[in-house]
Amino acid sequence: MGKKIKAGALISGGGTNLQAIIDSCAQDKIDAKIVFTGSDTPGVKGLERAERAGIDTFVVDYRTIIQQVKNDPDGVVLPGDFDMEEIRAKQNLLPESAGNEKIERFLTSRAIAERALLDRILPYDVDLLILAGFMRTLTPYFIDRINTGHRKIMNIHPALLPAFPGTDGYGDTFRYGCKVGGCTVHFIDYGEDTGPILGQKAFQIEENDTLEIVKKKGLALEWELFPECIQRFAEERGQA
Ligand code: GRF
Repeated sequence: MGKKIKAGALISGGGTNLQAIIDSCAQDKIDAKIVFTGSDTPGVKGLERAERAGIDTFVVDYRTIIQQVKNDPDGVVLPGDFDMEEIRAKQNLLPESAGNEKIERFLTSRAIAERALLDRILPYDVDLLILAGFMRTLTPYFIDRINTGHRKIMNIHPALLPAFPGTDGYGDTFRYGCKVGGCTVHFIDYGEDTGPILGQKAFQIEENDTLEIVKKKGLALEWELFPECIQRFAEERGQA
């Protein structure tokens, strides 16, 4: 085994991917150690999994922040280092056609949430940030402050990108009538599910498969793929 990389994880839910990674670390299958787990939602099961493994946890409650910005847009204090013009020009999450108000309100609430995330994350000085079922997009404000020197933010997506980006990859794959489904690990960039692909695994969808079966097949592959991609990253870092 090589030198261990320090990784942080962000989650939104049950955390079965997180569990697979925690187990791979504990069994020395990968050269990594998870030093924190953050969630955008309080009380999710993934936080319990992290705590059980002795990992630091925190919550940045996106829903509350978004509601506060909506209720009192004039009372918002943006982070001192946030430049609306710069982030608006770089971001590729909302099209210009979404309109000024919507784009600026979106970026404002995300700036506040992302600053809170950065305040918790940056002190750990991690080599890699893992998005393990984190159901929020991240703006260039956050990405640029993590990706110092090289790409460090890895996401798992429940479809064979570039097909079916968005939040319901297995559902979209199933409803389209695909005969093959899969999962993708990629680095994130300024768009939604558009960054460079690091690995993919595929499975057959049989005639009688239900959406539940499709999700089950996909998740089982995610639990293999994510640790494999983290290990490849760790090996490449070890050589850098
Ligand atoms: C996974 O299917 C992942 O691809 C998607 O959200 C799901 C998270 O599951 N982004 P879990 O929280 O890891 O169990």
